[in-house]
Amino acid sequence: MLHSALINVMVKAARRAGRSLKRDLGEIENLQVSLKGPANFVSLADKRAEQMLYDDLTKARPGYGFLGEEGGTREGSDKSNIWIVDPLDGTTNFLHGIPQFAISIGLQREGVIVAGVIYNPANDELYIAERGKGAFLNDMRLRVAGRKRLDDCVVACGLPHIGRGDHELSRREMTEMQNRVAGLRRFGAASLDLAFVAAGRLDGYWERNLQPWDIAAGLIMVREAGGIISGIDGHDNAIESGNVVCGNETIQRELVKILKPL
Ligand code: IPD
Ligand code: CA
Ligand code: CA
Repeated sequence: MLHSALINVMVKAARRAGRSLKRDLGEIENLQVSLKGPANFVSLADKRAEQMLYDDLTKARPGYGFLGEEGGTREGSDKSNIWIVDPLDGTTNFLHGIPQFAISIGLQREGVIVAGVIYNPANDELYIAERGKGAFLNDMRLRVAGRKRLDDCVVACGLPHIGRGDHELSRREMTEMQNRVAGLRRFGAASLDLAFVAAGRLDGYWERNLQPWDIAAGLIMVREAGGIISGIDGHDNAIESGNVVCGNETIQRELVKILKPL
């Protein structure tokens, strides 16, 4: 399938960094048995992947800015374009050899996300989206699920890690949702949760306290698949607030109705 030059650049970078992560995943399986575990190794794998992405993306588009989880902001001469990159989303999964993690690359232009690539090298699933051109999984066009009743829906969420976020609030959310949906899931890689909503695998997803690199690529994926993504308050502020609620129009609205008052 033919994609724009921009998407080709992003896909090439994601695949190269993906090969590196996949090799490292193999190594982790060996380190798992050691007492210290693979934590240090993973943080190196993460940094190595980000450096590769930085090198490839800035070589192909000199001047674009770069915001990466590991290296923070690196300004470019072109102030309108900025890559927003998570080189390894789903670190805890990766660390445990669970094949649910991804490289996430978004491009923000004049403050708007215009392209996204999410790639899971463990199963070779490649999600791409470009503004006005649709969202695709391995070249198959994506569309969000059509279910309208929450009690038919499978919905994913995030859970705050130890020592972070509001655990009490999270438990209230769980209780509310458990009473209303067909199934609740916690997969552990925000970019893939968003991609799964775009693919219609999940009917909805919400999470608080995310970072721009968790959301950027997934946001355009959901939108280009016909879904709605917002902050918990229902407004178009997911990246700014770090809070995400999404699904088809009906399900996103239902989720906001439940979560907003909590
Ligand atoms: C995390 C994952 C996880 C979400 C966390 C994120 P990381 O990203 O996306 O699903 O619940 O809040 O920080 O740390 O694995 O890149
Ligand atoms: Ca992340
Ligand atoms: Ca990360």
